Amino acid sequence: MPNATYHFPPDFLWGVATASHQVEGNNTNNQWWAWEQDEGHINFGHKSGKACGWWENTDIDFDIAARMGLNAMRLSLEWSRIEPKEGYLDLDAIERYRQMLQGLKQRGIEPMVTLHHFSNPLWLEEYGSWENPDIVMFFNRYTEQVMKHLGDEATLWCTLNEPNVYASQGYVEGIFPPGRSDIKAARQVLRNMVQAHVESYKIIHRIKPEAQVGFAHNYRFFDPARPNNLMDRVASWAYEQAFNRAFLKPLLNGWWHLFLGIGPAPGMGKAVDWIGLNYYTRDLVRFDRTAKDDLYSQRLHAEDAELLDGGYGELYPEGLFRALKILSRKGLPIYITENGTPDSDDDQRPRALVLHLHQMWKALQENIQIRGYYHWTLTDNFEWAEGWGMPFGLIEMDPETKERKTRPSADLYSAIVRGNAITPELIDAYIPEVRPVIMPE
Ligand code: FCB
Repeated sequence: MPNATYHFPPDFLWGVATASHQVEGNNTNNQWWAWEQDEGHINFGHKSGKACGWWENTDIDFDIAARMGLNAMRLSLEWSRIEPKEGYLDLDAIERYRQMLQGLKQRGIEPMVTLHHFSNPLWLEEYGSWENPDIVMFFNRYTEQVMKHLGDEATLWCTLNEPNVYASQGYVEGIFPPGRSDIKAARQVLRNMVQAHVESYKIIHRIKPEAQVGFAHNYRFFDPARPNNLMDRVASWAYEQAFNRAFLKPLLNGWWHLFLGIGPAPGMGKAVDWIGLNYYTRDLVRFDRTAKDDLYSQRLHAEDAELLDGGYGELYPEGLFRALKILSRKGLPIYITENGTPDSDDDQRPRALVLHLHQMWKALQENIQIRGYYHWTLTDNFEWAEGWGMPFGLIEMDPETKERKTRPSADLYSAIVRGNAITPELIDAYIPEVRPVIMPE
C-alpha cells in the first residue's frame, strides 16, 4: 500500500539491549578480561578496557535513552562483581546495580535484567564453569542472592543470554573463551545451561512470584544453498537442529533434543514465561564431503545478498519474521531481546532497522504476541572477539575519548518509538529508497 502507516500496539516496549562486560569497563575479574590479555584472541589486539564507562557513570547513556523516548532497556549483571570470590557477596556492587535500575525507572525506562551474558567470574573458571554440572548449584546461589537483594527492582528477568552462541563460539569454533574445539564439551555446556535456566526460573519465582522470566535465544537461519539438493538440505537441517533447536526443545517441549540427550527432560517444559529472540542474520549451507569439522558443509551467502559490514553476514530481515513464526508455536509472549546491525558509517543501519521493524509488524498482524523490541545496541561497545572494530551502536562512541555522537539511525529509531509507528514521512526523510519495498504502489 502506498502511504501506509504501520502502527505498533499500545504499551509496546521499545528499548535497547546491552551486556555488562561490553559496557561497564574494568571487569578485571572475569574470564573475558583474562582472554583479552592474550595476543591473538581479539581482533587488532583490542581490549575492553574502560568500555563505555558504565561502572562509574550510566547517566550519560541513560539520559540519551530517555531523550530518545525509549521505555525499556535490557542490561546484564556482572556475576564477577556481585560474587567476586566464591560465596562472597559484594554489597557495594549490589548497591551500584540498584542505582542503575532505579536510574532507569526514574527515567520511565523499564529494565529487563539478564543474569548471565557470556562472562564468568574467574573463580568459577577454576571449576570448569559451565562444563561442570556443579554450575547449576553455583548459578542457583547467585540467582538467589540477586533476587533477594535486587528482586524488587525489576519484573522482567532473563536468565541466560544465547546459550547456543556461548557453547558454539567457546567450545566448537574456539573464538570465545575457553577457546576449545570439543563437541562433547559443547553438549555438556548446553545441557548444564538448560538445567541452570530451569532451576534459576524456579528460584526467581519463589522469591518474586510476579516476575516474568525467560531467556534470550539466538536464532540464525541455515538455509540450503541449493534448495533442491538433498545433501545441502540435510546439512542445513543438521545446523538448524544443533544450533537452533537443541537448547529450545527441552525448555519448550519437556523432551531432550537428540543432540543433548534422549527422552523426557523432567521438570522442563514449564519453566518459561516468555521467549527472548536475538536475531541478526542467516547463512546458506552447502554440502562439502571434505569438511568433516564443519558438519560436512560450507557456509556461504546468497549471490544477490546485501552483506553487512565486517563480514557479519547477510542483511536478511525476512529471517526475523520466520523466527517469530517458529517461536510463536508455543503461544508464549515473545520479546525481541536483540536485533541490530554492525555499521560504522550508518549507511545500512537506518534501512536495516526499518526493514526489520516492518517484518516485526507483519508478525504482529498475525497475532504473534510480541511485547517489545530491544535494539542492539545503544552506544558502540566492546564487541567480544571483534573488539572495537564492529560498532553496533545507534550512538557512535570513540573508544579512546569516549565522545558520543548521534547517528541518523538513532534519530530515526527515536521518531518511530515516539510515534509508535513507521510512517511514510519518516521513510521519505531517512530512507526514501525503501519506500517501494515496504509501501509499494
Ligand atoms: C549477540 C550478543 C551480543 C552482541 C551482539 C552483536 O550475539 O548477545 O552481546 O555481541 O551479538
